[in-house]
Amino acid sequence: MKLHIFKDADAAAQAAADFIADRISTGNAKVLGLATGKTPIGIYDLLRQKVAAGQLSFSDVTAFNLDEYLGISADNPASFAAFMQQRLFDHVPFLAHHIPDGTAADPNAEALAYEARIKAAGGIDLQLLGIGRNGHIGFNEPGAAFDSVTRVVDLSESTRIANASDFPDGQQVPQQALTMGIASIMNARQILLVATGEAKAEALRAAFRDSASPDCPASALQAHEDAVVFADKAAAEKLSSD
Ligand code: PGA
Repeated sequence: MKLHIFKDADAAAQAAADFIADRISTGNAKVLGLATGKTPIGIYDLLRQKVAAGQLSFSDVTAFNLDEYLGISADNPASFAAFMQQRLFDHVPFLAHHIPDGTAADPNAEALAYEARIKAAGGIDLQLLGIGRNGHIGFNEPGAAFDSVTRVVDLSESTRIANASDFPDGQQVPQQALTMGIASIMNARQILLVATGEAKAEALRAAFRDSASPDCPASALQAHEDAVVFADKAAAEKLSSD
């Protein structure tokens, strides 16, 4: 794992946007794995600006998102599909973009089909990841098997609390989601994990300083040959630089 520490979240977002843009421009991210959450918002803003300035094009890029809430349709503003439309897809033409269908009649079949779609696209070249306070990647919560693939999962209470602000007006955070598995993520040829803020410091420490264990799903990345971590100082405070 290569660790880069930046002075603050804005600097980490700038570096992440530059990294992704470079991988796309050099033909190394034709299949791009994308993430939702608060962490990538600044990254997507910067990528949109690069496209608007004529410095970057996603027209050869196929995107696959990590996850979606179960039972939440794409027209619900709390859905990850709506997040992606608002933050990126409405503004930037892609060759194609995919996100698990949270309203599929048979979610298990949708999970298998999603995994097959990734394979059919040739696998993911570069996967962008955030990390949960509990060490989750995608919605692979603590305890998730390292050989897991795309499937239906139960969300942990801490994740439901962390994401509650996305569900205003008394809407309940769903109990379940569809997520790419840890093995699906590990199959990506390159991984960029971005972590900012002190709330992520303990998760980063457990992920990269403890022995790899399903107790901290992100620790699976220790075994990845090309995983890069961009952290701001606050998130990296429990890691010594290496
Ligand atoms: P966040 O979520 O960016 O909103 O902190 C990250 C994650 O849960 O993976």
